[in-house]
Amino acid sequence: MSQHLRLGVNIDHVATIRNARGGVHPDPVRAAHLAVRAGADGITAHLREDRRHISDDDIERLVSGVPAPINLEMAPTEEMLALALRHRPHAVCIVPERREERTTEGGIDAVAHYDRLAPIVRRLVEADIAVALFVEARPLQVKAAHMLGARAVELHTGAYCAADGENKRRVELKHIVDAADLAVSLGLDCHAGHGLSYETVGPIAAIHPIVELNIGHFLIGEAIFTGLEVSIARMRAVMDAWRMPTSASPLDAPPADPSPPDPAPADPAPMAAPEPSAS
Ligand code: PXP
Repeated sequence: MSQHLRLGVNIDHVATIRNARGGVHPDPVRAAHLAVRAGADGITAHLREDRRHISDDDIERLVSGVPAPINLEMAPTEEMLALALRHRPHAVCIVPERREERTTEGGIDAVAHYDRLAPIVRRLVEADIAVALFVEARPLQVKAAHMLGARAVELHTGAYCAADGENKRRVELKHIVDAADLAVSLGLDCHAGHGLSYETVGPIAAIHPIVELNIGHFLIGEAIFTGLEVSIARMRAVMDAWRMPTSASPLDAPPADPSPPDPAPADPAPMAAPEPSAS
């Protein structure tokens, strides 16, 4: 089983900041190049129906110019399918989308939407694009993704990250461990993501059937304080520290210190007020 856990860096929120002013800065494609330099194995971007962050032009520039696999997150619509077939990213992750949501709030229901998903997955697979379905960590969802012909499932880690208290978090972690085992037993690649931070990533990185994590919001937020390369390098280090060469379940693992290996530099003191001028 693969020891290397791939890190896909989601650069959506660089575009969120750019779009706040409607200009070209900061450029998510520049962030993607930096992310690759800092150790990202791939770049993930979600082209939303309302184009609230990533634009069509960003996708074009990512696919044509960034020296790493591009993972396009998209809703299962004809418009997005046509764009995926035109740009031909390395991979597509099919996600649910609601206009009023702030972020992708849950996995796609691959059972309820089976008939709608089937032709979209088929056409992407025929175009040799690696298809993942972003699903909740539940057996029926994983089985439906398998029956649909997806190459991978991406397990939604949002409930695990948001769980209130150790017991609830363990329950969510167990769902992810079980779903990852099931996915691999069915021949699917298993990915995971949503809401991961330095604090929550460790036990997920320790699940060996999972071979890829997609992480965005935390890394971009942290980059405000440390710079993007440092925020990504630290995430890489925490993932590697937890990716122990053992088949032990993360549920049995001792609670290793999930903090980043090297302490974050202290925040600089606030700027002193200028001395009143003598003149
Ligand atoms: N994976 C998928 C399928 C997502 O939709 C998102 C959010 O765009 C992520 C991973 C990354 O989540 P976050 O930004 O919370 O790290």
